[in-house]
Amino acid sequence: MGFEFNNETFRNDFTFKNSERAIRRFPFPFDRDDYMYSVNMEPHVPGRPGSVFEHAFDVDEHYLAEMRDRDLVLKEDPLRCQSLPHMELAGWDLLELIMESKARDYPHWFALHKTGNRWTWINRPMEIEQTFTFLDPSTLPYGPMEYITRQTQGDFTLQDQRDDNLWIEAGMVTTQADWSLDFDIGMGFHEWHAPVPLAHEKGVFDRALKFLLKLQHGAPVRRFNWTHTVDPLLDTSPENYPKWGPTRTEMTMENLGQRMHLRVELQTLWRLPRSNAIAFPIRCYLIKYDELVTVPKWARRMHRVVRDIHPELAAYKGFLRNRDLMTAWLAQYDDGAPTSPGW
Ligand code: HEM
Repeated sequence: MGFEFNNETFRNDFTFKNSERAIRRFPFPFDRDDYMYSVNMEPHVPGRPGSVFEHAFDVDEHYLAEMRDRDLVLKEDPLRCQSLPHMELAGWDLLELIMESKARDYPHWFALHKTGNRWTWINRPMEIEQTFTFLDPSTLPYGPMEYITRQTQGDFTLQDQRDDNLWIEAGMVTTQADWSLDFDIGMGFHEWHAPVPLAHEKGVFDRALKFLLKLQHGAPVRRFNWTHTVDPLLDTSPENYPKWGPTRTEMTMENLGQRMHLRVELQTLWRLPRSNAIAFPIRCYLIKYDELVTVPKWARRMHRVVRDIHPELAAYKGFLRNRDLMTAWLAQYDDGAPTSPGW
């Protein structure tokens, strides 16, 4: 694949960084100079070779470090992974989807051998070889969702569909942008989205739910979400707010390039075949401002988006306090040239 897995941390000494390759393939989420919520969904079809869209589940240089960080979060707080009893079948659906995708897309790292319901899964980077019986949880060290998401980058939630609604009833959530699975579990689509400003009145969530209720197996979709994080901390959870909330007060013109990170979530939505549930992987990509501005067109656009964003969105995303500073810092990289629509 032309890269090695980084030995890096997302806490304490924060040694996380992106290689040149990772910067070049970073999923910069803005296709224009301004930003407002919309129902921004498109088919999750394979993209350009080397891009984060090339495969269904992108594996990149941060894989092993992210899995180590997940393990640390779970040791401190096991409630980051929960599955209500009726969601076990959806967990098996997810396990099958990920194992088949990774074995197909990354055969040098992953393999899946099936003899009837007797499956052997090989994950070479994590040095795992596991033989188990599909649909028999007693043959795995964890439940099926936990088992596979301990080996897959990104957060995951599983939604049951009933009464014309989606219900968040299982998840592995250790790298989230300030929301809590433990708080949200059991909620419906509009309820868990309640804190989001401006989008409800624009009908964004009514339309998104209507679309998702009809999502078809084999036709996944994707969308971007984004925010900012001080330091490359994956676990910006409400549970840990005292650890990371105060760092927002430490930003200066001098340290912003190193400490301010654009945090992009590549979210995909999959109808699952047996359970009829919807899987929602939320894959987080971090890039520090110093890395981002090495691509001049991103720097220009980032400046304009931050400068002009609605204050309620900046407040919800947690960077209103630093918005002026960020705008001033980014302005150094905006020569005023027009940008064209698209990436
Ligand atoms: C935010 C979950 C699908 C749009 C959120 C939040 C959660 C969430 C937990 C954070 C809310 C908070 O502040 O506590 C989910 C799940 C989905 C889903 C589980 C899949 C079933 C969608 C879709 C859209 C969408 C399809 C399309 C319009 C948004 C927006 C935000 C949001 C705009 C605010 C994000 C920000 O500004 O940072 N979602 N969501 N979500 N969601 Fe979803």
